Amino acid sequence: MRTLNDIRSTFLGYFAKNGHEVVDSSPLVPRNDPTLMFANSGMVQFKNLFTGVETRDYKRATTAQKCVRAGGKHNDLDNVGYTARHHTFFEMLGNFSFGDYFKSDAIPFAWELVTKEFGIDKSRLYVTVYHTDDEAAEIWKKTGVPEDRIIRIATNDNFWMMGPTGPCGPCTEIFYDHGDKYWGGPPGSPEEDGDRFVEIWNLVFMQYEQFEDGTRRELEAQSIDTGMGIERVAALLQGTNDNYATDLIRSLIEASADATSTDPDGPGKTHHRVIADHLRSTSFLLADGVMPSNDGRGYVLRRIMRRAMRHAHLLGAKDPLMHRLVPALVRQMGAAYPELVRAQPLIEETLKLEETRFKQTLDRGLKLLDDEVLLLGQGKELPGEAAFKLYDTYGFPLDLTQDALREKGLTVDTSGFDVAMAEQKAKARAAWAGSGEAADATVWYDLYEADGATDFLGYDTETAEGQVVALVDDKMNQVDALTAGATGYIVTNQTPFYAESGGQVGDTGWIRRLQDEDDYAEVTDTQKMAGGKLSIHKVNVVHGTITAGDAVALEVDHHRRSMIRANHSATHLLHEALRETLGDHVAQRGSLNAPDRLRFDFSHAKAMSKDELRQVERDVNAYIRQNSAVMTRIMTPDDARAIGAQALFGEKYGDEVRVVSMGRADTGKGTDGKTYSIELCGGTHVERTGDIGAFALTSESASSAGVRRIEALTGAAAMTELRGRDERLSEIEGLLKVGRDEVAERVKALMDERKALSNEVAQLRRELAMFGGAGQGAPAEARDVNGVKFHAQVLSGVSGKDLPALIDEHKSRLGSGAVLLIADTGGKAAVAAGVTADLADKVSAVDLVRAAVGELGGKGGGGRPDMAQGGGASTENADAAIKAAETVIGG
Ligand code: ALA
Repeated sequence: MRTLNDIRSTFLGYFAKNGHEVVDSSPLVPRNDPTLMFANSGMVQFKNLFTGVETRDYKRATTAQKCVRAGGKHNDLDNVGYTARHHTFFEMLGNFSFGDYFKSDAIPFAWELVTKEFGIDKSRLYVTVYHTDDEAAEIWKKTGVPEDRIIRIATNDNFWMMGPTGPCGPCTEIFYDHGDKYWGGPPGSPEEDGDRFVEIWNLVFMQYEQFEDGTRRELEAQSIDTGMGIERVAALLQGTNDNYATDLIRSLIEASADATSTDPDGPGKTHHRVIADHLRSTSFLLADGVMPSNDGRGYVLRRIMRRAMRHAHLLGAKDPLMHRLVPALVRQMGAAYPELVRAQPLIEETLKLEETRFKQTLDRGLKLLDDEVLLLGQGKELPGEAAFKLYDTYGFPLDLTQDALREKGLTVDTSGFDVAMAEQKAKARAAWAGSGEAADATVWYDLYEADGATDFLGYDTETAEGQVVALVDDKMNQVDALTAGATGYIVTNQTPFYAESGGQVGDTGWIRRLQDEDDYAEVTDTQKMAGGKLSIHKVNVVHGTITAGDAVALEVDHHRRSMIRANHSATHLLHEALRETLGDHVAQRGSLNAPDRLRFDFSHAKAMSKDELRQVERDVNAYIRQNSAVMTRIMTPDDARAIGAQALFGEKYGDEVRVVSMGRADTGKGTDGKTYSIELCGGTHVERTGDIGAFALTSESASSAGVRRIEALTGAAAMTELRGRDERLSEIEGLLKVGRDEVAERVKALMDERKALSNEVAQLRRELAMFGGAGQGAPAEARDVNGVKFHAQVLSGVSGKDLPALIDEHKSRLGSGAVLLIADTGGKAAVAAGVTADLADKVSAVDLVRAAVGELGGKGGGGRPDMAQGGGASTENADAAIKAAETVIGG
């Protein structure tokens, strides 16, 4: 038997052999198409090659492309499980020529692959061509298809367009006849919708580009785009016309049957089919970064998940089922799509989480639905209000309710549902109006209501295409266009720009019109509005005009974002290092993650010691060198707390939280093998801790009572800081002429020596002053003034502090008497006077000082009667000062 995996490699191998580059499937979330929800055919990733906007170093390519058709234009969700060939997820095999070969090669390639490589019986094959395409019909004839098997079709079935705009052209399709045991007729016949004739391959001749106004231009280069649904080909090669009976999908059905101990072909058959299909789309969407949410892509994913969960419930599964089937899927498809293997833990956890939560309301919702159905007459519609209650209270997407009713032959009043939804929005709006947000916020709520939330793509990519859903000028008025020179805001349906939140600053970068890349705006900031639902780009339009509805290329400033990422991840490591060094009382009080620095405020009562700071810096750098992968997961707040995630105290978290973990705790004091840092965080992070480069603390200070603030650098800035420290140390080493290890010891010895020396110098100066010497005024003999021995002297080279000791020395030398010392202290005068105790009632030292100071251009002076001090402007009038003191003694 030819397995599906076999068919994929045969197809790719065949075209590789014929000069085609084997290109990986693009992610399901299109990076280069603003209008498309999910990749829905192989050509999506090559769109710009067909229109000539982009060139690559190959002109022929072949792919197996992951496709999801649910939500948006091609929506197969409702039929999945009930038919033989509808899927939410499928693989499209294709070969592509970008201005290289055209019809005359594409047709023989296809024929050879189908009839020779796959060995499909020619007598069962039919082809269609567009009614005016004589050339294609002629080539088929030459290739060996009899004329009566070439059917001309005039409808759009044979003119392929990827959407309302873009590359397009006539196509030719190959059909397989499954035989008369099935009902149906050949293409173009009234019975064509039957199961007998099945299209297996579509070859599109890309010849035109279609524009919004309906006009077309002929493309310079004629190209080929083909698409073969691998599941259909597998079916016919495996002798069935039911895609769900093919090996790969059948193995998933069996896994579902095993896990629920039910019969794969019994009464639960449809449920198994739904589960097998939805397992593929949900797992692949999760692997490509889509997370369940209440808006946009995330909501489509949630709808598929919940639909599968209801079918699991109908099979009697008591516990979450879907996550248990992931290993079976990875076994089948992991080799061809390694992203599935990488994301396996994330897929399993997210499925389990979503299932566990939905289970809580599913039973009650189904009970309510049963009660409502009992009230309905046969063929009646379920009132819109009831469907809305199921949606709003029990988390039932509308299509889940429809699916449940379908089995009973009932439908929903969808317009009633819409009315109820609109009423609820009006209520929510009234609540916002009262929430006290700035008045100019209304414009953002209006936009959110009209166009929905902005889809953030920036965890996985820094560039993406988007569609301008609204423009707002700087006076907060919605406008149709912003022209060069204007400042304002651009809102797009999706964006890789991170809007400021959680301490991480908003991204900057560029938004360019796809139609003309010269027209562009510079993004100076990105902010969240409408309660976080909308991301708005603050812009200066640099050239041309940006108009609402434009398709644009959004590009984040990569260099700046990389630095922000490094700082944000380093903040997580810093937080944990602080907890380990200082204790568990350390809790985050605030943070800033800018491109050029990081700041972290945390609870801690006293300044950190040098040793603590050194320890923290060393720990963070150790985890950077460890270069372990940074992991991101989604879980409930309770589960996150259970695994020890650090959350912001008092912060309100939603039903689901993003948990970022990094570091294996085996370098420091942590327990071996445990994760070092686990935090709830919506920010963007490095892939591996090594991407942070290096970490350097620059300051630690008080932020407010009981809160310390650390500032630090990462990457090149940290290296510069650390190198600066090193250079300063080298300089000191050079001066001291010792090795690095001896610097501290040497400095301490020098400081001790200096202290001893300065004590000695002070002592010598005092002695010099006492006994006379160079530079000192003559130690005049004490004079007798009014019966009091009076010693007065002018000194230099001693300081004011030295004077009291000198006064004491003179007092004891005199035995009884008065002393006045005037020291020249570098321009100023220090004055001290002393009187021996026996003269206390005759003369006061305070009076002596005051009299002297008065002459020296100073003021005041004070102390005790036996010892007083003061200061003057200069010693110039020292003689007059001594005279004045004598006068005081003379009475
Ligand atoms: N792009 C073409 C299709 O999807 C081949 O059918």
